[in-house]
This record gives sequence, structure tokens and C-alpha cells, in this order.
Amino acid sequence: MPTQAALRILGIETSCDETAAAVVENGRFILSNIVASQVDIHAQYGGVFPEVASRQHILTIYPVLEQALKQAHLDINDVDAIAVTRGPGLAGSLVIGVNVAKGLAISSGKPLLGINHLEAHLYSVSLMERSSDVGIAPLYPMIGLIVSGGHTELVLMKEVLQYQSLGRSLDDAAGEAFDKVARLLNLPYPGGPSIQKIAASGNPMSFQFPRAWLEGSWNFSFSGLKTAVLREVRKLERFQKPLPVADLAASFQQAVVEVLVEKTLRAAQEFKAKSVLVAGGVSANQCLRDTFASRTNIPLYIPPIELCTDNAAMVAAVGYHRYQAGQFDDLDLDVIPNWPIAEVGIGKGQVLA
Ligand code: KG4
Ligand code: ZN
Repeated sequence: MPTQAALRILGIETSCDETAAAVVENGRFILSNIVASQVDIHAQYGGVFPEVASRQHILTIYPVLEQALKQAHLDINDVDAIAVTRGPGLAGSLVIGVNVAKGLAISSGKPLLGINHLEAHLYSVSLMERSSDVGIAPLYPMIGLIVSGGHTELVLMKEVLQYQSLGRSLDDAAGEAFDKVARLLNLPYPGGPSIQKIAASGNPMSFQFPRAWLEGSWNFSFSGLKTAVLREVRKLERFQKPLPVADLAASFQQAVVEVLVEKTLRAAQEFKAKSVLVAGGVSANQCLRDTFASRTNIPLYIPPIELCTDNAAMVAAVGYHRYQAGQFDDLDLDVIPNWPIAEVGIGKGQVLA
């Protein structure tokens, strides 16, 4: 078991449409965090175009890596390990990051760590500690809500690296619902920030959109809500009325936020959680952040806005814990496009961290 004062992990993230590399010290201090976003390229398609995403990763991964090492004032030989997102995500995108990581591991002789992307989102909050004088020691058991474009997952985190999946979205992920409803309302991609912006001038009580509580389970469903918005839009169009876009956006946002906050806090109570963590792209939503802050009576961790969306610092942060636990991967590491968080760590031996 390596014990070092400063353990530096190079993180690589290419699971969707961000090409990212970062160097993080001791799972906490960001030495560099480079994200090359493809948002402008995919905006013309109204969503991520997988083939375009992987081609773009190929073009940007090396410059992004170089910049991450340069900004950290390090050489590849100075880092202790290479952590890379292995899944879940788009197969063609994941493969670029994983192969580059393997190449670097072979050429530098550094160990390789394959990381779960959902798990990584959970550790984005540890990176907050850098700017804070008071280090956050996460309180377990913790309820984690991961809300992104691809996933809505409620997790019980009993300890560092130990997860139990409680529930997930049975259809659209929360971020996907934001993106689809934005398209319905002719708002630009990505939909989350567009809806948040216009919702600020709308009335969230204008439309009573349905909330799918799915009582008795910790799962979520957002497709009925999306269909309800579609029906309302079609109705208004039939009557040739101008769309009250701000009111529709605010009412939709309110419905999503209410369900996410209520179910997460119910789970926190049920499992006697000592803290609540919210992460993933949708955790950048101000209405969600404010509602959680006003309703949660135990410590609440939400990453700063810039760490909510995909980045490689969070991948490096998990890499630190896996390194400490001696959970390395072999060079035959392959991508797992559908990799449930509940299966992370299986076959990795005992968690020692
Ligand atoms: O975590 P992320 O960067 O990528 C995935 O792993 O999916 O999340 C991207 C998602 C998109 O669906 C985007 O619309 C949503 O996060 N998002 C937001 C906001 N910022 C990003 N949703 C609601 N409000 C926001 N402010
Ligand atoms: Zn993500």
C-alpha cells in the first residue's frame, strides 16, 4: 500500500461530449482542470451526435492532456497514476479516453485506474474543499443524488467507495427532460441552462404539471411530465396563442425540482443519512440548489457550478481513493457503456480506504 504525502492523479474524461483532463493532488486539490466542451458543435443537432463526439475527442484529447500537465507544472512521469472514465457513457467516446490512458500507462509505467462516471460525480464535492479553509469530512451514511443528462440515480453511500443504488429514472434522465422540453419550447441546447434562464421571469404556478411520485419506490420518471408540457404546447398552438415560454419553463422546472428534492430527502430520512450530496449537470440548477438548501436539515454538499458538469478532476478524485485501496486495473481494461454504480468495485477486493 503506497503511502505518500502528495499523491497526484491524472484524470481523463471522455464519456460524452466533454474532452477533459485534470491533475488532482490527494483526491482534493485541483492542480489543473481542463475541459474542452463540444456544446457549440452539438447545439446544431439539438443534442449530442455520438459519431461527431468521438471524432472531436480524437482531435482534442492530446492538446487537452498537454495543457492539463503544463498547468499543473508536471510531466507525465511526475504523476502517480492515470485514472480514466470507463463507463457509463457513449461507447465510441469512452474508447478514446480509455485507449489514450492505456497508451500513457504503457509508456510511463504508471498504474491505470478505470473509473465509473456516476461515482466520479459523487466526488466532485470533495474538490470544493480546496477553496474552503474548513475541510469537509463527508458524513456517512450519505444519500447522493446524481442528476445529469444521462442519469438520475439515488445512491446510499455507506462509506468512501461503497455504494448501494436505491433508484433511478425509469425513462428520461432529469437533464434529458430539461433538454427535450427546451427543444419543445425552441430554446437552445443544452436545455438546462436555457430553461433556468427564461424560467427566472416566469411563474412556476402557471401550469400544474404532473409529478410522478412512484410511491413505494426510489425510482423517478420524467417522460409523463415531458408529454404534459408537449400537450400544453400543442393546445396553445392550436388556439394560435403565443407560447408563454417563461411560465411553461418555470412550471416544468418546478415540477422536476419538487420531485428530486422530496424523494431525496425522504430517502435521507428513511436511511438515517447524516448528509445529502447532489451532483451532476442538473445540480447546477439554481432552483434545485435553493430548494435543497431551504429544505435540508442535515449537511448538504453540492459542487460549485463549474464542477457540476462533466470534468476530469472528479475522475482523478475517485482515482485517489482507488489508488489508496490498491484497486488498480490491468492493461486489458475495456469500456463498459452501461455500468451500474452498484457494480462498481465488485471483484476489486477489500476496500481499505
Ligand atoms: O453531468 P453532465 O455534464 O453530463 C452527463 O453526464 O450527462 O450533465 C449535462 C446535463 C444536460 O442535460 C444539461 O441540460 C443539464 O446537465 N444542465 C442543467 C443545468 N446545467 C446543465 N440542467 C438544469 N439546470 C442547469 N442550470
Ligand atoms: Zn456526467
